[in-house]
Amino acid sequence: MSEANSSSAKGKFEAQVCSNRRIGPGFHRLRLQFTQDGAIAFADFQPGQFAQFDLSNTALPSPDDVPEELRDSSGRKILLRRPFSFAEVTTEEDETFAELLYCVVGPATLRMTTLSAGDCINIIGPLGHGFQIPDGKKTVLLLGGGMGTPPLQHLAQSLTTRNDGIDVVSFAGAKTVEALPFEGRLDEISQTLGFSVPEFAKYGIESIVATDDGSAGYHGLVTNCLAEWLEKSDIAFDDMIICACGPELMLASVAQIAAEKNIDCQVSMERRMACGIGLCQSCAVECKVAGSDETIYKMCCQDGPVFDSKEVVF
Ligand SMILES: Cc1cc2nc3c(=O)[nH]c(=O)nc-3n(C[C@H](O)[C@H](O)[C@H](O)COP(=O)(O)OP(=O)(O)OC[C@H]3O[C@@H](n4cnc5c(N)ncnc54)[C@H](O)[C@@H]3O)c2cc1C
Ligand code: FES
Repeated sequence: MSEANSSSAKGKFEAQVCSNRRIGPGFHRLRLQFTQDGAIAFADFQPGQFAQFDLSNTALPSPDDVPEELRDSSGRKILLRRPFSFAEVTTEEDETFAELLYCVVGPATLRMTTLSAGDCINIIGPLGHGFQIPDGKKTVLLLGGGMGTPPLQHLAQSLTTRNDGIDVVSFAGAKTVEALPFEGRLDEISQTLGFSVPEFAKYGIESIVATDDGSAGYHGLVTNCLAEWLEKSDIAFDDMIICACGPELMLASVAQIAAEKNIDCQVSMERRMACGIGLCQSCAVECKVAGSDETIYKMCCQDGPVFDSKEVVF
């Protein structure tokens, strides 16, 4: 079973905002509706692919709603499109709905908070290559750090909807419980009971949470939590694959764990992306050349954003 990577139907489409909710400190969930050709193109959006959003004409919030740390940068013009993955994609009759989980970090994501039902956004996509689960894998381990969970939520949706009998376990880590981009309560009781993250529980997937400060779940780095889980697991490593998205240090660490244990691992890399279609060369990722000491640069937007962890030079 594999996730196809069809970026062939990509194009520029208008999406209409259905809702835009704040779900936590700095976290928002935006639901978009695509119709006609956009609905067809985005129905094929694969977990880990991304889309480029034009937010140049989106309004700023009122000065009182601009966080202190963004006061200086908030007025900057949004010249370039911004890349985002989706956390969930569903089709209903001839419409496609896509949900985006976003974190306010700068002028474009700040403007996104002012979008409301009925507004339209111009979006280019689907772009890039997503996660590909090779045939024969029986267990998929999802590893998300901070805001790295959206494409993994989409992968969870895709894997469980296809009902191929694959077991999925999700690991989510952040510095503190407040930095975990989930809607549900993550207290000690829900952790003990398992199934504590509604975003994964709704697909019947167990979630293991780790926080650096121990404010929820495992006390420590999510990669240490994964390594301990692997030590205790009796599943053959050959039957597993790890799919990871998050900060580069976390990806480097999971790549090392996977290499030591000979587990297949795919990592979703993040780069600043100007064009998103392989033209500007702004998103280079240094990659190893198989069978040689040489390295080459691949384009995150076109060759990725998902890469085999053995390929990337961290
Ligand atoms: C393939 C891909 C998928 C993404 N999916 C999501 C998602 O689902 N949800 C979400 O909230 N964000 C996602 N992002 C990140 C998102 O694109 C940025 O947060 C956004 O562009 C920031 O724009 P801004 O104008 O608000 O902030 P900016 O002023 O552009 O940036 C604010 C800060 O964030 C850093 N930053 C911004 N973009 C990137 C990047 N691409 N790589 C590394 N650092 C960056 C900057 O260095 C700066 O420190 C994704 C990025 C990529 C490449
Ligand atoms: S963003 Fe332009 S080449 Fe990748």
